[in-house]
Amino acid sequence: MSRAPACPIPEPLARALADARSIVVLTGAGVSAESGVPTFRDAQTGLWAKFDPFELATPRAFARQPGLVWDWYAERRAAVARALPNPGHRALVAIEGRAPSFLLATQNVDGLHHRAGSRSIVELHGSLARVRCSREDREVAAWDEPAPGEPPRCPDCGAFLRPDVVWFEEALPAAAIERAEAAARACDLMIVAGTSAEVHPAAALPWLARAAGATIVEINPSATPLTRHADHALRERSGVALPAWVASAWPASAAPDAAGGGAK
Ligand code: OAD
Repeated sequence: MSRAPACPIPEPLARALADARSIVVLTGAGVSAESGVPTFRDAQTGLWAKFDPFELATPRAFARQPGLVWDWYAERRAAVARALPNPGHRALVAIEGRAPSFLLATQNVDGLHHRAGSRSIVELHGSLARVRCSREDREVAAWDEPAPGEPPRCPDCGAFLRPDVVWFEEALPAAAIERAEAAARACDLMIVAGTSAEVHPAAALPWLARAAGATIVEINPSATPLTRHADHALRERSGVALPAWVASAWPASAAPDAAGGGAK
């Protein structure tokens, strides 16, 4: 007896992926959930269920308690360093390798797309892997051991260093959001995976693509404000749905784990 596929993919959806000329993917924290990295808004397990974002992820929080904020991000940096890319990340590498034009716009700061082997990426909310000077706004690669309870200081100007991530009340890096918006307006397929689609301006990207006539496919076990406006919604984890979709679009070439690069 043959087993039913873990995530059945309707034939028009398989064709939409195989035939797309220009693909934009918007990812959020859910794509890394199967790597053991917590999301933000999931009840119980999400970071914002346990921590107050206004105590940790705003410029005012950093001004008030720089050591606390630095330590929280340092812990998250250490946790993502221990995590590994999952089959969903790798399926996106496989899609990038086959699409004539491709851009991955991620809200994630965990670097797992890079480590899976994705190349054409814009990091809309920055990266935990980078640190910058809070005064001069430039990246800093090395610093001296900080005083206890404080972030390290900029070797040039002495201001505190901070993670190079976007906090609430801050603007996204202009070049990153402009590149993602231009690609969204020009794509014929937009895949929206693992995001609650609530945080702007990233959440507006599928709407730009939709207004320009692209097919919108959402991959998320839960409904979001986008779900009923998407052309297809796969109510499944991205680590299951994305490899199944790749295998159905390119049956001859798909490896069991959806090809793509290995974990690094
Ligand atoms: P959220 O935590 O808001 O949403 C995660 C989404 O992933 C939810 O809709 C879940 O249903 C879904 N999800 C959970 N497990 C999944 C899985 N295995 N496969 C697919 N989907 C799954 O995270 P984001 O949408 O990324 O910003 O949040 C956007 C921004 O808000 C973040 O970048 C962060 C946060 O506050 C800043 O810190 C500035």
